Amino acid sequence: MNEDLNLPMGDSLALREAFERAGQGQVFRFFDRLDEDARDRLLKQASEINLAEIDRLVRELVLTDSMVEPNVENWQPAPFIAAPVHGGDLNAWRKAEKMGGEALRNGRVAAFTVAGGQGTRLGFDGPKGSFPATPVRSKSLFQVFAEKILTASNRYHVAIPWLIMTSGDNHESTVRFFTENQFFGLESQGVRFFQQGRMPAVDFAGKILLQKPDGLALSPDGHGGSLRALARSGSLDLLKESGIDIISYFQVDNPLLQPIDPAFIGFHLMGESEMSSKMVCKANPTEKVGVFCLREDQLEVIEYSDLPEKLTLEKDESSGELRYRAGSIAIHLISRDFARQVGGDDPRFRLPFHRADKRVTAIDSEGRVVEPDSPNGVKFEMFAFDALGFAKNPIVVETLREDEFSPIKNAVGIDSAESSRQDQLRQWTRWLKAAGEDIATDETGLPGFSFEVSPIFADSKQAFLERWKNLETRPAIAEGTYLE
Ligand code: UD1
Repeated sequence: MNEDLNLPMGDSLALREAFERAGQGQVFRFFDRLDEDARDRLLKQASEINLAEIDRLVRELVLTDSMVEPNVENWQPAPFIAAPVHGGDLNAWRKAEKMGGEALRNGRVAAFTVAGGQGTRLGFDGPKGSFPATPVRSKSLFQVFAEKILTASNRYHVAIPWLIMTSGDNHESTVRFFTENQFFGLESQGVRFFQQGRMPAVDFAGKILLQKPDGLALSPDGHGGSLRALARSGSLDLLKESGIDIISYFQVDNPLLQPIDPAFIGFHLMGESEMSSKMVCKANPTEKVGVFCLREDQLEVIEYSDLPEKLTLEKDESSGELRYRAGSIAIHLISRDFARQVGGDDPRFRLPFHRADKRVTAIDSEGRVVEPDSPNGVKFEMFAFDALGFAKNPIVVETLREDEFSPIKNAVGIDSAESSRQDQLRQWTRWLKAAGEDIATDETGLPGFSFEVSPIFADSKQAFLERWKNLETRPAIAEGTYLE
C-alpha cells in the first residue's frame, strides 16, 4: 500500500499507464530513479491532473492556430447604469442603496477576494495582499480591505464573512500574514481561506512540463478557478447554512475599492441579476482593462488585447466619447446558486480556458534545469468574467475611477504603488475640501504632503463628512497626520 497517496500500488501503475496512453508518459521519465518519497510526491501531483481536460485543451488551444480575426459585425458597447454625476437616475440610486443596505442588515452578503495570483509584474516577494499600499502607515492591501469590511460590519450590525482564495504558492504565507497581524481586528472565524486549483503547463507540442524529476510545472488555474474552488472547498455550503446568497467578488490589487457597496447590491437585487459588474470609463483608448461588450446581445468582457483596434478607437459621433468605454475593474456580485452552477461539473456551464504563452522553468529530457528567456510553454487559465455569458440578467453599474479604481500592478509608472498612493491622497483631500477644509493641491488635486484616513475613521465621502462634522476638536492636516 502506498500510504501517502492512499492508492494501492496497482492504482499507481494504472495512473502511469493512463499518462502513457494520453501521450504524457514523459511525466514519469525519471520515475525509476526516484526514491520512495519522491515517487509519492510525483504520483500525488499526477493524480490531480484531469487528463481528458488537458487533452481537450491541447487540441483546442495549443495544436490549432486559433488566431482568427473576430467578426465584429454583431458587437455593441454594453449598456450600463450611469453614475448620478453622469446623468444616472438619482432616485434609482437612492432606492438601490436602501435595498442593498437592507440585504446587508439581513446578513445576506459575504466578501470574497481572489488572491491566488503570482503577482510577477510587481516583483514583490510575498503574497500580493501583504504589499504595503497606504501613504503614511504603509498598511497592506489586506489590512485596508479588512478595515473596510469591519467598518461595513459595524454599520450594518452584522458580521460580514470574508472568503479569501489563495493558491498553492501563497496559501501558507497568506494565512501566516493574517495570524501574525491578529486578522487586522476581524474575528478570525469570520475569515475563511481556501486554495484554488492548479493546472500543468505544457510545451508547444502539448506535453506536460516537469519542473523537477519529481514535480510537474503547475500553476494556479486563473481567477475563474474561483468558482470551482468556492464549490469544492465547501464554502458555498457554509454560505448557504448562514443564509448568505450574495458574494461580493474583488481582486487583491486595488486599495480604493469598496468591498461592500449597498447601491451596487441593490441594483443587483432589483435587476434579479445572477452576476453584476462594476465599470469605470476608460482613461484612454489603450488603457489595459477589459471592456464590457455585447456580442450577439450577450454581455462579455473582452480583454484589451483582444478588442479589435477599430473598436478600441471608435468614438461616438455626437459626444466624442469612446464608444467602447466601459472598462472592467473586476468587481462583481455573484449569486450563490449561480456560483454553484458555474463552479460545478455540468459541461453546459463550463468556463473556457485561455491560453497564455509564458516562460516556464522546466527540466529537459536529461533532467537539466532550463531557464528560458522567451516563452517555451503554455499555461491554461480561466477568467471569472467569462461566467457572465451564463448569467441571467447580468448588469453593469458605473462607479467613478477617482472613488474606486487605482490598482497596484506594476513596480513603477501607471498602476504602481506610487500612483495608487497619490490617488488615495487625492481622494481624502477631496473629502476634506468637501468638509470645508482648505488644502493646497497641484492641478491634479494632489496635496504637497502625505497623510492618511483610516477606513475605520471613514470609508466614503458621506461617512467622512458625517464624522468630521461631529468631531469635537479637528486635527490639523499636515505631513504624517493619521485619522483613525
Ligand atoms: C485584470 C483583468 C482585466 C481588468 C483588470 C482590472 C484579466 C485577464 N484581466 O487584469 O480585465 O480590467 O484586472 O484591474 O483578468 N488571480 C488569482 N488566481 C489566478 C490568477 C489571478 O486569484 O490564478 C487573482 C490575482 O491575485 C488578482 C486578480 O486575480 O487579485 C487579477 O489577476 P491579474 O492576473 O493580475 O489580472 P490583470 O491582468 O491585472
